Amino acid sequence: MKNRLLGRNVFGDPANQGNVLAKDEAVKLLNDWVLNERLRLHMQQVAYLMQRWAAEKEQLDEAGQWRWEMAGLLHDADWDQWPDQHCSKIITELEARNIEPGIIHAIASHGPDYFGVEPETKMDKMLFAFDELSGLIYAYSLMRPEGYKGMELKGVKKRLKEKSFAANVSREEIQDACNRAGIPIDEVINFIIQHQSFVQ
Ligand SMILES: [Fe+2]
Repeated sequence: MKNRLLGRNVFGDPANQGNVLAKDEAVKLLNDWVLNERLRLHMQQVAYLMQRWAAEKEQLDEAGQWRWEMAGLLHDADWDQWPDQHCSKIITELEARNIEPGIIHAIASHGPDYFGVEPETKMDKMLFAFDELSGLIYAYSLMRPEGYKGMELKGVKKRLKEKSFAANVSREEIQDACNRAGIPIDEVINFIIQHQSFVQ
């Protein structure tokens, strides 16, 4: 992926704090913009992981969980049709819809090496941590006869060490993301193994 530095660190308007899309609006935006089913599934998977993490690990209420879920659901929304405008197009769209800054910042910081925006909040950091690992574990599930069933941490770690497996997924980026989140990579992997099978 080429660098697409956003050139700014401030997103949205603080006056819009608390403004989110309704779930059906967010799903419609996802379906309208993302025609590639595999990419849509990726965002649904990351959205679910974000929602479950917010609920189980951060003990957030439903509104808090939805903020995390919405960031996951839309983080790559412009990648399918406008790869050259990733992720500035979805940011501009959410700003035009008066969405709160926190959700937009999470999307803007999900690839600090590419977009030049540092993940700051817990939500920012977990979106970055889940993004690539979710895809790698999904790819692993596809090559296992029983999918996620019986999948173990050590199997995922083995795939991580195999450079030819999901070769486009940067291992350094994954480790960097977990370090920034302050969560051991094993915990993130186990969480994904336990939850991701619910999104097919
Ligand atoms: Fe992604």
